[in-house]
Amino acid sequence: MFIVLLGGPGAGKGTVSNEICERYKLPHISTGDMLREEIAKESELGLEVKEILASGGLVSDDIVKKLIKNKLASKSCENGAILDGYPRTEKQAETLTEVVESIGKKLDFAIEIDLPDDIIIERVINRRLCSNKKCGAIYNAKYNKPKVEGICDNCGSELFQRPDDNEETIKHRLKVYHEEAEEILKYYKDNGLLTTVHLDGSEKPQDLINKVIDIIEK
Ligand code: AP5
Repeated sequence: MFIVLLGGPGAGKGTVSNEICERYKLPHISTGDMLREEIAKESELGLEVKEILASGGLVSDDIVKKLIKNKLASKSCENGAILDGYPRTEKQAETLTEVVESIGKKLDFAIEIDLPDDIIIERVINRRLCSNKKCGAIYNAKYNKPKVEGICDNCGSELFQRPDDNEETIKHRLKVYHEEAEEILKYYKDNGLLTTVHLDGSEKPQDLINKVIDIIEK
């Protein structure tokens, strides 16, 4: 089963992915995480994209195509995957269809999480992440606090804040998202794959997760 999760930065794609991957035993493919790993390794690619991520702009379609192609062709994706943060342009959506078809599979769902921008901004600037990559838990200093401030409930590692989770950059990331979103949503609507979960911000993370599970199970 191949599921594409769409939605603005901070809409809850990572939160949903953690649960859905565990439940359906599928790998989580986040192009944002893959790019941040390259930056942490200080690889050639990492150095090339570092400033782009810091400013909230988009990395070129060709760079993410290479990352995604290798990953989808790997054995870990033979039963499917959850795609979080890819595609982000109509060109990437077309590429994803081609790559999935080239390995003899098809996309099953494109699920959009739709949340007002003002709520996104507040959530993102309060997001805290577990520094242990194998854990990957996501917290919020306002809405989903860990039991001990700065420490992950699951594994005891320190929490950190992403450098692009500040007010100025999140506003730019939202602008970039809205510029591209209409075409991607149309692409998946035309393919009959799109379902949108509309949220007003009052829902708990588990409410969103349950809505996504309902879509998959139907
Ligand atoms: P990426 O890492 O993909 O970031 P993003 O799309 O901006 O999404 P986020 O990870 O910020 O948010 P999310 O939706 O996962 O939200 P979360 O669940 O954490 O991309 C980063 C950068 O990489 C891009 O800007 C770009 O430069 C580059 N890039 C990546 N992919 C690319 C591509 N394909 N092409 C080109 N460039 C690319 O939730 C957010 C917060 O809200 C958390 O604190 C969480 O606890 C809280 N929360 C979630 N749900 C709830 C709820 N229901 N109630 C209360 N709080 C909640």
